[in-house]
Amino acid sequence: MNLKLKIWRQAKAESKGRMVTYSITDVSPDMSFLEMMDMHNEQLIQKGEDPVAFDHDCREGICGMCSMFINGEAHGPDRLVTTCQLHMRKFKDGDTIIIEPFRANAFPIIKDLVVDRSAFDRIQQAGGFVSVNTSGNTQDANSIPIDKHDADKAFDAATCIGCGACVASCKNASAMLFVSAKVSQYSLLPQGKVEATDRVLNMVKQMDEEGFGNCTNTGACEVECPKGISLENVARMNREYMIASLKG
Ligand code: SF4
Ligand code: FES
Repeated sequence: MNLKLKIWRQAKAESKGRMVTYSITDVSPDMSFLEMMDMHNEQLIQKGEDPVAFDHDCREGICGMCSMFINGEAHGPDRLVTTCQLHMRKFKDGDTIIIEPFRANAFPIIKDLVVDRSAFDRIQQAGGFVSVNTSGNTQDANSIPIDKHDADKAFDAATCIGCGACVASCKNASAMLFVSAKVSQYSLLPQGKVEATDRVLNMVKQMDEEGFGNCTNTGACEVECPKGISLENVARMNREYMIASLKG
């Protein structure tokens, strides 16, 4: 396939960015999107040009690094996949592909398609953990009975990979889907109940301090989330928050 790529280029955080148009030839439909980006970068390097900076790590849908807006959608046109799991067979010969970084005030651009998502780390550090001593004192998992329904819901919430597609897709740049997944994965389990009050209050406080917008129940986050995280988690977090605020 021969394609036209329109890619956001920005040398550093303070520089003014712009869309630059490139042509790429001989793209195999069996390539992953990132392999196509690698091929494009090799061509740029051979011409003595600066390669396009983009984030990636696992390349198997686990780490959440490959954040790109492709043709106006976080992680591109496929559903329930990350950019690294997207394949070129989703495009056709002669297509123009528009590639931009995830855009949100709380995710400042570092270079080209790379954004700073450390705001998510700080939200996690504010409460996304359980303070259990696991050094030799771990209880056998089977000794704590957990309702199957709750275990499944907690597992579903725990599949959030922290990619930020929910923020980038939201007109308010809200991080509610991400934060609610992290709150839910603990609030549904007995191990998470001990710190539940502090967790939800501290994580929501940090989310607000980082400058994410509020949720207006539009639902774009749920549609674009590569892990299918449900809006049900946002409702659960709102309930948890209300109860915690009344206690506090
Ligand atoms: S909720 Fe979905 S879109 Fe948001 S960070 Fe988690 S996996 Fe990514
Ligand atoms: S590179 Fe890890 S999820 Fe895409």
